[in-house]
Amino acid sequence: MSKKLFIETLGCAMNSRDSEHMIAQLREKEGYTTTDEFREADLILINTCSVRERPVHKLFSELGGFNKHKKKGAKIGVCGCTASHLGEEIIKRAPYVNFVLGARNVSKICEVLHLDKAVEIDINYDESEFAFDDFRSSSHKAFINISIGCDKSCTFCIVPKTRGDEISIPADLIIQEARRAAVNGAKEIFLLGQNVNNYGRRFSGDTEKINFSELLRRLSKIDEVERIRFTSPHPFHMDDEFIEEFGKNPKICKSMHMPLQSGSNTILKAMKRGYTKEWFINRVQKLRAECPEVSISTDIIVAFPGESDEDFADTIDVMKQVRFDQIFSFKYSPRPHTEAEHLTEVDSEISSDRLSYLQTLNNEIHDEINAALMGNTYRVYFEELIRDGYISGRSDNNIVIKVKGSEELLGVFKDVKVTAIGRTILTGEILA
Ligand code: SAH
Ligand code: F3S
Repeated sequence: MSKKLFIETLGCAMNSRDSEHMIAQLREKEGYTTTDEFREADLILINTCSVRERPVHKLFSELGGFNKHKKKGAKIGVCGCTASHLGEEIIKRAPYVNFVLGARNVSKICEVLHLDKAVEIDINYDESEFAFDDFRSSSHKAFINISIGCDKSCTFCIVPKTRGDEISIPADLIIQEARRAAVNGAKEIFLLGQNVNNYGRRFSGDTEKINFSELLRRLSKIDEVERIRFTSPHPFHMDDEFIEEFGKNPKICKSMHMPLQSGSNTILKAMKRGYTKEWFINRVQKLRAECPEVSISTDIIVAFPGESDEDFADTIDVMKQVRFDQIFSFKYSPRPHTEAEHLTEVDSEISSDRLSYLQTLNNEIHDEINAALMGNTYRVYFEELIRDGYISGRSDNNIVIKVKGSEELLGVFKDVKVTAIGRTILTGEILA
């Protein structure tokens, strides 16, 4: 009987890909298969996120639960960003944890597994050319890392301290990986990096240096790849070449994530984001001029330390001018090892009011945008079975639509007409 692995993945798409990488190594080198039931697992991994505060005691109470109910002799490993920044403290507080593996060290999973109380959290470790074995949780869509780490120093963000400096993965490795995935059925590839449009700034070895626009051009020449998505570009690096390539390359999905964070120039400066409100709006205008059908999503942090009513009004102003298709909004959360950590926080009632005001406005804008989609037809790539006999997929510009249907539609493109509007998902009918 094969050994069983239970893995819980929190956080972003990069963590999902890190989990796939760990599963791949454990399957190929150690003979593990995955299970959804931790009680029957021989190895329990929790791949953590530390971008916002998830009270540390919550992690420890969850670990306590795993320890209490796990199979006799099962091992527990804590991986990911919280592993990177808490390190040994995890084993001090939860001595039954067998190893701690940082976000930039996942290639060492098979080594730490056999070491007692290993703590591998070196954020300078370079995995950019590591040949991971192949494992993908979906055969229709492939996450592909194009860089590791982040070179920015946004004052609110812990990521550079957990994932280290930014290193791009050589283009030929990315292209080989994309081709392999696409030949195996992944018609859509999803490129991942903290700042994808800064691609090519630094490689670890002596490799051909190309920028993100050129990488997109090369990937789009792979016949089997029909759609390319990516996350996240940084507004600072949105030059004309990139926006023009985005607009004219038919394989690039017309959905852009542009993390605004704040609309106030004072706050953007305090966050060290490197752009102004005016630059951001100018880039949106350029994008819409090159690509009128683009859908734009964003991340916004409310109540960064020092945010005044006027600063917040600037964020609202950008929202009204841009009318984002989707907003991920967060209350500022102080993170260890960041520049903003010790700044005086905005009163918590004020932050809650601002967040709910922003979310209400966002819902209004979103409902108006959605209502106008009724009766439209989109080419949908089906990727997930959902409840009640429906299957869902996405349009090129990231609209999520469900239709009645089953497995045979997975990984298939169909033209779909929108017949009902919902806030997070539309309903449609396949056109013959
Ligand atoms: N480079 C990534 C950012 C990763 S963090 C990107 O551009 O998407 C994802 C999002 O979490 C950020 O865009 C930011 O909006 C939010 N975030 C990061 N640190 C935060 C903090 N300390 N408090 C609240 N939200 C935060
Ligand atoms: Fe974080 Fe800013 Fe990098 S948000 S991931 S430091 S671009």
